[in-house]
Amino acid sequence: MSNPAIVGFSGNLTNPSKTRAFVDLIVQDIANRHGLSSRTYDIDDVGPSLGAAKWARDLDARAQAILSDVLAADVLVVGSPTYKGSYTGLFKHFFDLIDPTALKGKPVLLTATGGGERHALIVEHQLRPLFGFFEAFALPTAVYATDKDFTDGVLRSELIQKRAAQAVDEIAVLLANKSGVRMAAE
Ligand SMILES: Cc1cc2nc3c(=O)[nH]c(=O)nc-3n(C[C@H](O)[C@H](O)[C@H](O)COP(=O)(O)O)c2cc1C
Repeated sequence: MSNPAIVGFSGNLTNPSKTRAFVDLIVQDIANRHGLSSRTYDIDDVGPSLGAAKWARDLDARAQAILSDVLAADVLVVGSPTYKGSYTGLFKHFFDLIDPTALKGKPVLLTATGGGERHALIVEHQLRPLFGFFEAFALPTAVYATDKDFTDGVLRSELIQKRAAQAVDEIAVLLANKSGVRMAAE
């Protein structure tokens, strides 16, 4: 089976998860809009081999398959709940296992959730530098939502929905110029 074109990866540790639901909402939106295949994963999906892995080759088959989908994606949508002012440790550990050149030029939409507004800049001060390290094509619009933007785990805030739509519009520009993005990555 071929790798999905739009891949979501969420750093949540517990389920149900607002972050996973938020990432998946954006993934579905992009996939439906462009008629592309999609999958969303979280730390639970990667499973227990992640914590003990020092290298990608230490991951079990299920985790390696997820890693392969992340690397092959045309567009990556990442998200993490804010834990102690940053992304979760296992979210970072998953990306620590990736070769520094493997995400070069990949369009990445950055999202995060948190308990309140105080850590809204996690998307700019934590996630953006991480994907800057990889020389990924992080979109200008990053989206942060708080617990109060969700009702029963579903995003209800019109303001956040509007901001997410703005990021999805930026993806549309990139997908329309896909060969240009690939060239920039080479
Ligand atoms: C261990 C832990 C640490 C947290 N630290 C923060 C924090 O520093 N700032 C914040 O705004 N929210 C913090 N939160 C709240 C979560 O980020 C917030 O509830 C998030 O939306 C949960 O997402 P989830 O439903 O995907 O797990 C923390 C929660 C936990 C469990």
